[in-house]
Amino acid sequence: MKFFIDTANIDEIRSANQLGVLAGVTTNPSLVAKEGVSFHDRLKEITAEVTEGSVSAEVIAEDAEGMIEEGMELAAIAPNITIKVPMTLEGLKAVKAFSDKKIKTNVTLIFNANQALLAARAGATYVSPFLGRLDDIGHDGMQLIATIAEIFDRHHIATEIIAASIRHPLHVTDAALHGAHIATVPYSVLSQLVKHPLTDQGIEKFLADWNKQN
Ligand code: E4P
Repeated sequence: MKFFIDTANIDEIRSANQLGVLAGVTTNPSLVAKEGVSFHDRLKEITAEVTEGSVSAEVIAEDAEGMIEEGMELAAIAPNITIKVPMTLEGLKAVKAFSDKKIKTNVTLIFNANQALLAARAGATYVSPFLGRLDDIGHDGMQLIATIAEIFDRHHIATEIIAASIRHPLHVTDAALHGAHIATVPYSVLSQLVKHPLTDQGIEKFLADWNKQN
């Protein structure tokens, strides 16, 4: 499983990129709004930092025509822009159009397996099931990842599964175990993944022992 970072914050993206584990970035309108910057300008900054991995940029329009128009403008910003499209009937039409033009898509707001299968068949490069938001309403987000992974595997579907709406480190481990190809994680969770109290204690003890002798 690969790591994407789920943020529009350029400092977080830079820091994560320095770790050498970053395979891409996902943004959404809420994350961009939090930054208070122009979306296009921020996408230029992000794609200057992350030059190879996929950078998902979400369309706001609700009709296919509008999504395609917006998506074409976003795709022109950099070759590694992936157009993020919501899972709706109009969204599927847009995904098909982008796929015909060889533009990558990430179908977002996936909450059941049929949505994932439809998105894949429309030509989506990625599907993003939202684990945390399912867990929030008492559903089993991880089971959805497993089900989609099994369906894609059985039917030889190449669309990649992005485990999204990740809230904590256990989501990351379980997503990897249940067949997600990618986890898109907030910076806070990425930092948590590095940490273990025994690692910190171990470093402290090694240093203390070293200092006794030197
Ligand atoms: C995924 O691409 C979304 O941006 C994101 O993971 C949503 O997460 P949230 O439920 O924490 O808003």
